[in-house]
Amino acid sequence: MNEAAPAKENILAGIEMGVGVWAWGERLIWGYGRDYSLGDLRGAFESSIAAGIRLFDTAEIYGQGQSEQILGQFLKQAQEPVLVATKFMPFPWRLSRQSLMGALKSSLKRLGLEQVDLYQIHQPLPPVNIETWMEGLTEAVNAGLTRAVGVSNYDRRQMQRASDRLQREGVHLASNQVEYHLLNRKVEKNGLLRQCQEQETALIAYSPLAMGVLTGKYSPENLPQGVRSGRFGRKYLEKVQPLLTLLKRIGAEHGSKTPSQVALNWVMCKGALPIPGAKTLLQAEQNAGASGWRLSDEAVMQLDEMSDRVCSDL
Ligand SMILES: NC(=O)c1ccc[n+]([C@@H]2O[C@H](COP(=O)([O-])OP(=O)(O)OC[C@H]3O[C@@H](n4cnc5c(N)ncnc54)[C@H](OP(=O)(O)O)[C@@H]3O)[C@@H](O)[C@H]2O)c1
Repeated sequence: MNEAAPAKENILAGIEMGVGVWAWGERLIWGYGRDYSLGDLRGAFESSIAAGIRLFDTAEIYGQGQSEQILGQFLKQAQEPVLVATKFMPFPWRLSRQSLMGALKSSLKRLGLEQVDLYQIHQPLPPVNIETWMEGLTEAVNAGLTRAVGVSNYDRRQMQRASDRLQREGVHLASNQVEYHLLNRKVEKNGLLRQCQEQETALIAYSPLAMGVLTGKYSPENLPQGVRSGRFGRKYLEKVQPLLTLLKRIGAEHGSKTPSQVALNWVMCKGALPIPGAKTLLQAEQNAGASGWRLSDEAVMQLDEMSDRVCSDL
């Protein structure tokens, strides 16, 4: 009888956190070129690497390719090994798995790489079914264009279908990237986080700072501008203040950690991998300080209770 081949280790195993680079080159949504510059982004990249953060998450659609291009530019000068994750958007006009290979090759060109570390399907969008995209991902692995594959915004059922299809080809589903933070704990409540842990698929937590709200810098008197103003208005920021106060208190009790560091560490304590966005050296440096230590069980419990209370009123 043949012995089962030992499972290949998930390339994300042991990685505590990464950096999300959606804002890199993204003018319309995040204000690139107005509020922060290429020099700021270089600072964010270099300080992350210096702090031992090696995973960078981008997508072909971020800044219409600018994000991949800027990351690629920085990668050329990187002295340390870096893990690059990017994403394929299954636009409704992309109807075959050949379109995935074409998009991946374009991403590689922008990144200046021959292979990415993780290639993800950005959304479970119709009309093409999940199985077809999984066949495309398998082809990308076999062609050596990506080391591992993942999905994003997939619910439990969709993730199972993806995983089953990949498994048939001997490919492991490395990750599912979904929104997860103290102000959105859907993945905890609906069992997705548990399912990820059971099948050794990393849950990559996106917007882990609730797009900046959990840093504590926004308040009813200092509202975020641009597209965020619709989602995080005055009422919202009034309601989340008790949670922000608790983040500050817990940070002080854990050796002068900032609210952002506590919020990111909470995600890690739950067994997920946060990828906070950073636009500047200071933001990246501060976020990197969220790794390498752990909140007490008591603190995690207090944050759980407070977030439940606050979220029930949002
Ligand atoms: N798969 C998907 O569908 C999907 C969706 C969304 C995001 N993502 C991924 O997740 C990554 C992170 O999510 P996100 O960018 O939406 O939100 P986030 O990480 O929750 O927040 C990032 C924003 O918060 C502010 N910030 C970050 N660190 C800070 C610090 N230490 N001090 C003060 N302000 C700080 C910055 O904006 P300001 O300075 O302007 O406040 C930054 O752009 C993205 O880059 C992307 O890679 C994926």
